[in-house]
Amino acid sequence: MKRVFSGIQPTGNLSIGNYLGAMKQFVEMQDDYECFYCVVDLHALTVMPTARSLHEGTLDLAALYYAVGIDPHKANLFLQSHVSEHSELSWLLQCISYFGELSRMTQFKDKKQLIESSKKGSQSITAGLFSYPVLMAADILLYDAEVVPVGQDQKQHVELARNIANRANQLIKDGVFVVPEPLIPKIGAKIMSLRDPSRKMSKSDPVDASRINMLDTPEAIMTKFKKAKTDSENLIKYDPVNKRGVSNLLEIQSLCTNKPISVLEAEYENSGYGKLKTQTAEAVIEFLKPIQERYYELRNSPEMLEYLKLGADNARKIARKTLTRYQNALGLVSRD
Ligand code: TYM
Repeated sequence: MKRVFSGIQPTGNLSIGNYLGAMKQFVEMQDDYECFYCVVDLHALTVMPTARSLHEGTLDLAALYYAVGIDPHKANLFLQSHVSEHSELSWLLQCISYFGELSRMTQFKDKKQLIESSKKGSQSITAGLFSYPVLMAADILLYDAEVVPVGQDQKQHVELARNIANRANQLIKDGVFVVPEPLIPKIGAKIMSLRDPSRKMSKSDPVDASRINMLDTPEAIMTKFKKAKTDSENLIKYDPVNKRGVSNLLEIQSLCTNKPISVLEAEYENSGYGKLKTQTAEAVIEFLKPIQERYYELRNSPEMLEYLKLGADNARKIARKTLTRYQNALGLVSRD
């Protein structure tokens, strides 16, 4: 069985963008791959969350993973900070990562620009924000993961992980790391903001109306879709370049109902945007209902913590082996 690794940061409100771009694939892959999924709490530290929001956000995200269908008997879900090998390998990989390549990461450039232009002019760019993609490479390489399911915005980071793996294989020892491949869905890889369809839907967007949160009430979902930005053409056609708002609604509805986009286009041939918006909202409400019910059952249950512990125990076994293999290749003297 091929091995899969992917992670999500416990920051902000998980949105249907995260679900449709990433988690949906995580669930679908459970039967055919050996899966390691992670709540990347150490990554969240790069935005300096309060202790309370990190703690609660971590447990909220874990419960959502299980609620969308991650089965603890099929896949290993764990908290990144419970497997200390992630931090250890991250340092070792920083020593073969280049300042230039990290400076070129678009997410870093965007976040840096945002911090510099924000009113909090005093806020600094931390070393953690800069070296974040190296920790992500460590996450992936520790598990000898061959496949990494992600949304479009993480493609560049997975490519960096590939470059680092290839470099270690050339400079340190041939075959010391497996070179991973990103897996990006054909539809849903970049769900756009409902307020500004030229930008991606983001769980950290300060404008809540820009996204559908996984735990939004039916009323909130309906209101947000009714106000979704479209265009003035009044033509329902899938064209993500010229009709980003309408195409976004079609993608969301298609993924939540399993109806191909071409079928939806035919159904809406003589309809207006009002109907498209309302029916997309109804599809999302229907789709999220059982997920939300499972979430509230699980969020404070003792078995969730047991599952996470089991996931971390399984993860650690593999992570330790890979870390030791790399430490030996580097020439670090073994303790045993
Ligand atoms: P994060 O937490 O920002 O997002 C989690 C996943 O959701 C995808 N995603 C989207 N997909 C479609 N449309 C959107 N609007 C949208 N917004 C987000 C992301 O592409 C991602 O797959 N650095 C990562 C977390 C990470 C990771 C890893 C991922 C840490 N280590 C190792 C894979 C492998 C991140 O911040 O994702």
